[in-house]
Amino acid sequence: MGAMTTTTHTDSALVRAARGEAVPHTPVWFMRQAGRSLPEYRELRAGIGMLDTIRRPDLVTEITLQPVRRHGVDAAVLFSDIVVPIAAAGVDVDIVAGTGPVVAEPIRTTADVARLRRLEPTDVDHVAEAVRLTTAELGDTPLIGFAGAPFTLASYLVEGGPSRNHLKTKALMYGDPDTWHALLDRLADNALTFLRVQVGAGAAAVQLFDSWIGALSEADYRRFVLPHSAKVLRGLDDAGVPRIHFGVGTGELLGAIGEAGADVVGVDWRTPLDVATGRIGPDKAVQGNLDPATLFAPWEVVEAEVRRVLEQGRAAPGHIFNLGHGVPPETDPTVLTRVTALVHELTAS
Ligand code: CP3
Repeated sequence: MGAMTTTTHTDSALVRAARGEAVPHTPVWFMRQAGRSLPEYRELRAGIGMLDTIRRPDLVTEITLQPVRRHGVDAAVLFSDIVVPIAAAGVDVDIVAGTGPVVAEPIRTTADVARLRRLEPTDVDHVAEAVRLTTAELGDTPLIGFAGAPFTLASYLVEGGPSRNHLKTKALMYGDPDTWHALLDRLADNALTFLRVQVGAGAAAVQLFDSWIGALSEADYRRFVLPHSAKVLRGLDDAGVPRIHFGVGTGELLGAIGEAGADVVGVDWRTPLDVATGRIGPDKAVQGNLDPATLFAPWEVVEAEVRRVLEQGRAAPGHIFNLGHGVPPETDPTVLTRVTALVHELTAS
């Protein structure tokens, strides 16, 4: 059974594109495809907290499947959140609707770092169970597992919540590099453990979300962050699944990000995919990068933008179609269904 599933996923358009192999059509999925844009999600979530929902494998499976059924996308992405392994490692964190992750006692000293325990695989048994249940239901459709990257998680932990300028985070980075590196090292180890659990339970690909990394200069990224992200990605060298590495506002960082060890680099809408490939190098697939705001434009505009993204994606050895960031909650989901069908139609070989 396990071997059969693996064979099927190795042949999926998503995994083939990630490896730069020929595809039957350009694969499509959407970051945040599961969630508030779907009425069936809002109905299921009514009255249940985000982290409580994630602790229920039956609900996770249903929510993960919803966008696959509705849109016909080429991959499912596990319904979870980047703070899940942080909560499982002993930190008091909640996800507040309309705000995001809120950390009760922010981490700013060496003593604070010790409160973030080393994650054991058994701490996230419920995630492994959810992956097993979901992959059994998905059949041929690959499941993407994910984790938050060390910098993006550190930002929530140090700031105590979402931040625009990451001032406290950078204060720690510049002012106390030893504590900074100890924190990022722990976060890297835990992200690796978390991803290996998901792969072990059946995830066919993984994405490392470094959403807020665009706040850094290339020099600071290389010095304070890259080695930690690389530890996570290289730790999956023997895992046999493609690694996608994504951040927002990364135009100036793409060359360095390309060195961190992923197979696919996710690009936001600010950098055309052919320009991105010029910076990342010709040997890596790309993922992206329709501007999520386009989804609110007239259909003719959406269609023209989809064509442009596909054209620019041809510069890379493989292209996974996606948005440049997550689906906005206000999105009309029927537009996502149409975009999926359009990409399939335009790229069918
Ligand atoms: O993509 C998917 O469909 C899978 C689900 C997913 C969630 N979070 C569910 C979620 C994924 C991949 C994430 C990752 C995540 N979480 C990131 C990286 C991706 C990105 O968008 O850059 C980040 C930065 C977080 C932290 C976080 N969690 C934020 C900023 C928020 C939004 C807060 C809000 O209410 O606007 C969350 C909560 C969250 N995670 C929701 C969902 C569906 C919304 C909460 C809800 O539905 O009640």
